[in-house]
Amino acid sequence: MGKYDQQRSFLKSNFTEFKTITTDAKKGISQPPKSKSYGINSRLVDLPMVSERTLTNGNIYTCIKERRSTRFYSDQAISLNELSYLLWATQGITNTNKAGITFRTVPCSGATHSFESYLLIRNVKELQKGVYRYLPVEHKLLFMFELDEIENKIDEITLDQPFVPNFANKAAILFIWSTIPYRSEWKYDITAHKKILIDIGHVCQNLYLASESIGAGTCAIGIYDQNRVDQLLGLNGEEEFTIYLAAVGKK
Ligand SMILES: Cc1cc2nc3c(=O)[nH]c(=O)nc-3n(C[C@H](O)[C@H](O)[C@H](O)COP(=O)(O)O)c2cc1C
Repeated sequence: MGKYDQQRSFLKSNFTEFKTITTDAKKGISQPPKSKSYGINSRLVDLPMVSERTLTNGNIYTCIKERRSTRFYSDQAISLNELSYLLWATQGITNTNKAGITFRTVPCSGATHSFESYLLIRNVKELQKGVYRYLPVEHKLLFMFELDEIENKIDEITLDQPFVPNFANKAAILFIWSTIPYRSEWKYDITAHKKILIDIGHVCQNLYLASESIGAGTCAIGIYDQNRVDQLLGLNGEEEFTIYLAAVGKK
């Protein structure tokens, strides 16, 4: 077997095999929750209602044209309005059907939305530095914990960056998306994993375009230390683990 065979096979559609599988959904097993729960004493942060007025460039054509991976940021803070908009653009719920399925600003295979959004906040007006989780149903932030030496922690988890060393530690926000694969496996079984990777690409592209529309820049980060990030966020690395990162800051 060639060294790439297994990985290439993962990229292909295995729909024919899928048709023969009785998925958990077909077995009548109840659908996993669409977002993680949290304790009643959790510290929640209200996010402002998303408004088009937050945008400094509402022209989709120029946002697509000008978008570039941005690794140099100014010291200007991101406002809470802007953060609210970026979260909405990446995972915001725009409709919920009678069965409770959420439809969001990003497409997702079977609307299974297997992602959770964590944020390392460095420079957002009115927000304490630290680690947060986005609650899409409530459109709120959950404050998780303070993080000493946040810049060093960001360096540790984003490893040796090939283009601009340590650029992520100057970003205002580091987005960290995890996946809870069972949300997709429940419906798509062995075909879930290819879909999850495609799904997260849509999420990050929306972050790029939304950032562009508020005078900020994004850089996707695929080079990261899996164990360190998962440990930092308290993820067990099996049922939930980090899948992608992106740094955001004002240009
Ligand atoms: C899946 C993925 C992973 C990436 N990982 C990194 C990364 O770890 N570090 C980095 O500096 N850029 C990273 N990038 C950004 C790419 O280097 C960038 O998209 C590419 O050079 C093209 O430049 P552009 O986005 O400005 O068009 C990543 C992009 C993608 C799509």
